[in-house]
Amino acid sequence: MVEPASPEHVRSIPKVELHVHVEGAARPSTLTNLARQNGIELPVQDLASLYAYEGLEDFIGAYDIVCRCLVSAADYERVTHESLELAHLAGVQYREMFFSPTFALRRGIPFKTVWQGLAAGVSEARKDFGIECKLILDIDKPSGPGPARELIDLALGCDREVLVGIGGDAGEDGVDLVAFVEPFEFARQQGFRTTMHLSEEGPASDIAVGVRQIGVDRVDHGFNLLKDMDLTREVVERQVPVTVCPTSNVEIGLLDSLSDHPAPAMRQHGVLVSINSDNAEMFRIDLADEFLRVQEAFGYGLADLEDLSIAAIQSSWLDDASKTEMKRQFTTRFQELRSEMGRTERAFEL
Ligand code: ADE
Ligand code: ZN
Repeated sequence: MVEPASPEHVRSIPKVELHVHVEGAARPSTLTNLARQNGIELPVQDLASLYAYEGLEDFIGAYDIVCRCLVSAADYERVTHESLELAHLAGVQYREMFFSPTFALRRGIPFKTVWQGLAAGVSEARKDFGIECKLILDIDKPSGPGPARELIDLALGCDREVLVGIGGDAGEDGVDLVAFVEPFEFARQQGFRTTMHLSEEGPASDIAVGVRQIGVDRVDHGFNLLKDMDLTREVVERQVPVTVCPTSNVEIGLLDSLSDHPAPAMRQHGVLVSINSDNAEMFRIDLADEFLRVQEAFGYGLADLEDLSIAAIQSSWLDDASKTEMKRQFTTRFQELRSEMGRTERAFEL
């Protein structure tokens, strides 16, 4: 029988988060406040009342309304800083965070405005909370490869110490993934790491295109991976990380219950899986809540949660020396936490 870790202990476990969107991690109260300040009319009084979804398209509709609230660089700075404070309170020490400029560009907000606010928020949060955050520019897959290339061109002008990767999000239905081979190849040539939302609602063949043709470094969601065992073996052999978001899948309505999520089976097959909140505030969670839910739904104990933290370090885009150092620090902290809480469970081997 695996003994579950207490909520307090789960919150204290040092964590790395790799799949979270800054807009979806913004507090609804802040967004409502900013909308008022910016003279933006919202379809509801309380934004949080929109946070119930009937599928991915419906969710993206709510996400668009969230994005409408953000107008100035100061708005982006505020939500970035706040979301990193919430992450810090959940035990997150390092985060790679998406932003989706397409929603802002559609409303005439310059890319520079978005970027300046994000970069300032990241820098302030490092000073205030000691949390380290790198950013990933999410291209809007339904907009196609042309707009993707335009965004990658804009990304070239950003501080490359902060903007480390290119991702691809939004709906999956009817998207021609092969069309992204060229812009993603260009992004890689320019030194960006790449990832993509693949098989959130789509089939395992989407993951195959991402991994085999586009050549992504990481897969976001990868929900149906195990439906193709040849592909699973390849993903395991190449250790392509998969960032899963179980609560997101349930909240968006892709899955009835957390306990039906394939993450435990993926791990058993040797897939490098990390646990992520996706859109923390839009799902009313933080990463500590997500760890707790996963512990309960999957019958995990402390050792599993610690393994997941180490897997997230391994899945990150930190360089090898930084990964080794972070694993060492986490392992030391796990041991301290275990003795503080009177545990003698196993120590990690690096
Ligand atoms: N953008 C923000 N969250 C997303 C999700 N879960 N799927 C696709 N695009 C997104
Ligand atoms: Zn996502």
